[in-house]
Amino acid sequence: MKLENGPRLHNPWGFIVVAVVSATVVIAFGLGFLLLPRYQEPRAPFSTKDAVYHALGFHIHGKAFNTMQPPPKVPTYIAWTESTIRQATIGDRKSGEFIATNCTACHGEKGLSTQPWIPSLAGLDRLVLYKQLDDFRSGTRLSGPMSAIAQSLTSQQYADVSAYFASLPGLPENRGERTPRPHSSYRNRDPVQRLIYAGDPKRGIAACASCHGPGGYRIGAPALAKQNELYLEQQLQAFALGTRANDMDMPMRTIASALTESEIRALARAYANENANGP
Ligand code: HEC
Ligand code: HEC
Repeated sequence: MKLENGPRLHNPWGFIVVAVVSATVVIAFGLGFLLLPRYQEPRAPFSTKDAVYHALGFHIHGKAFNTMQPPPKVPTYIAWTESTIRQATIGDRKSGEFIATNCTACHGEKGLSTQPWIPSLAGLDRLVLYKQLDDFRSGTRLSGPMSAIAQSLTSQQYADVSAYFASLPGLPENRGERTPRPHSSYRNRDPVQRLIYAGDPKRGIAACASCHGPGGYRIGAPALAKQNELYLEQQLQAFALGTRANDMDMPMRTIASALTESEIRALARAYANENANGP
């Protein structure tokens, strides 16, 4: 064999393989993260950054994600029996604090989230936290990041981490105490305060305060005062669309679908700016 006819010094195959692989990666990224999420959302268009967030399973501004997926038929696998309540409240705060190191990147140091679409957890009721984690695990509440996280924990760990976040100062835990409220009248001139404290019987909307406090408490109803405004708005929209459907006996789906877009925005703003003792 003559040397000059042997393998050439610059073998082109190495370059071709690298080029093909890189092109495949770029095209796959473009399709999966940018193009598909854009077309999945009927109320598009979003920015490139939003499309990437969306593909990763986050909620993005003003839009509920997962609109392509039909909501599960069963709202939740939690029933508030004595044994579930016991299981949800026997958590150990110290072990919970350790587990919570996996949560702070998104939910903030001490459970106070600085990202507008991620909820604060500090001060939320233990039963609320426990139920939502179980719903993320069973898929009755949809969220890319949260379902993976909930699946990696046991129910004892739900109880532990719930005990920890519930013990932190933050969202005012609702104990259903009834304090005199100057706003709680159908005659209040501010329509948003009227919805919160008196509801709208004509449209079958019960007062938010009768379940979310102050004044009343429906077991499992999260504290709303001081929660992130964008998060509240997105949850109300998700209930209205039925993309969040994990409310037992569907009070939230019924109420949210009776609200107008501007009422949803105004309620989210009012709650986000509320202090512990009401506006
Ligand atoms: C990668 C980011 C990320 C991490 C890490 C994360 N979460 Fe979340 N979490 C979210 C997002 C986003 C939502 C809102 C989901 C939605 O929009 O429906 C959420 C929602 C929740 C909720 C529902 C709160 C409510 O008010 O309904 C609970 C409870 C929760 N997370 C607990 C945890 C716990 C406990 C951990 C740690 C073990 C954790 N999360 C880690 C992103 C994260
Ligand atoms: C009949 C009781 C009831 C009434 C009235 C009610 N809610 Fe709710 N709400 C609930 C329950 C229970 C949940 C928790 C659902 C679940 O288990 O995921 C909830 C959840 C929510 C959430 C999601 C919070 C989170 O952290 O995930 C928002 C936002 C909300 N309600 C807003 C409102 C507003 C605004 C009103 C008034 C217009 C209202 N609710 C009236 C019972 C009620």
